[in-house]
Amino acid sequence: RPIQLIDVPVQSGARRRGCVMGPDALRTAGMAEVLTDLGYGVSTASINPPATSPDGADTSGDLHAPEACAAWIAAIQAYDVPAGALPIFLGGDHLLAAGVVPAMASRSDRPQFVLWLDAHSDIHTPATTTSGNLHGTPVAYFTGAPEFEGVFPPPRATVDPGKILMLGLRSVDPDEKAALVRAGVVTADMRTIDEHGIAPPLRRFLDEVRVANGDLHVSLDVDFLDPSIAPAVGTTVPGGATFREAHLVMEMLHDSGLVTSLDIAELNPFLDERGRTTSLIVDLIASLFGKAVLDRPTRRG
Ligand code: ARG
Ligand code: MN
Ligand code: MN
Ligand code: MN
Repeated sequence: RPIQLIDVPVQSGARRRGCVMGPDALRTAGMAEVLTDLGYGVSTASINPPATSPDGADTSGDLHAPEACAAWIAAIQAYDVPAGALPIFLGGDHLLAAGVVPAMASRSDRPQFVLWLDAHSDIHTPATTTSGNLHGTPVAYFTGAPEFEGVFPPPRATVDPGKILMLGLRSVDPDEKAALVRAGVVTADMRTIDEHGIAPPLRRFLDEVRVANGDLHVSLDVDFLDPSIAPAVGTTVPGGATFREAHLVMEMLHDSGLVTSLDIAELNPFLDERGRTTSLIVDLIASLFGKAVLDRPTRRG
């Protein structure tokens, strides 16, 4: 199956600058070559920054750059991935998921599942966000929260919160906790991962996707990873996924054969150390697409 790498250099979802460089850094670290070497046909595309306030200088009340964010969401949702291609959206801050997930959910009639790899639940609404940074809101948006009316364009399709697994949570604001419970999002926070390991919740989730014959979008926020191995992110939180936990997730995803789309969010190369975060991300993506230590029989249902 051919892969399309799509640059989405959005940084209006937060105040700190640098995510605009994410796609260039991932290219520099060899993202395309790694996939080509694994045998995939790779094409490239980019979604261009909206003309209005591309750097996100507009403010409205307490929200940072809502117009630039809305324009990005419209531009991403309007982009049609070529039929048959598996898209990897190269971010860009996590606001991009507000464009990408509805676009993916509208691509087929199969039920859409989302694996959310993140320290944060990003389920604020414009009414509950305390930071005003809209990268903290995509999950509420793509699950259909009404509070976005008049702020963001209506989503092209929405996702059932029960079909979302959030893995790696360790920074959830009080209003977000309530929203997660109310919506019925499935979660495995770091406490759960510490106690039981990262594989069991993921295995259960993948079984569900398989049984439902669903599409699976994976949203990888760089701060899912522990800051000691992935410093290039504006919102680091201690106690994240280790090198091996992250690779195991990618390896299990590959073995499942279920992933239909992917995004990489929040990479801020301006904060990196000699490219090590970017290189780690490329290495993780290689695992997701089949790079393995040894050949082993795949467990496919
Ligand atoms: N919950 C915090 C906020 O609303 C942090 C959000 C971090 N989100 C992210 N995509 N890095 O600002
Ligand atoms: Mn996030
Ligand atoms: Mn669908
Ligand atoms: Mn995060």
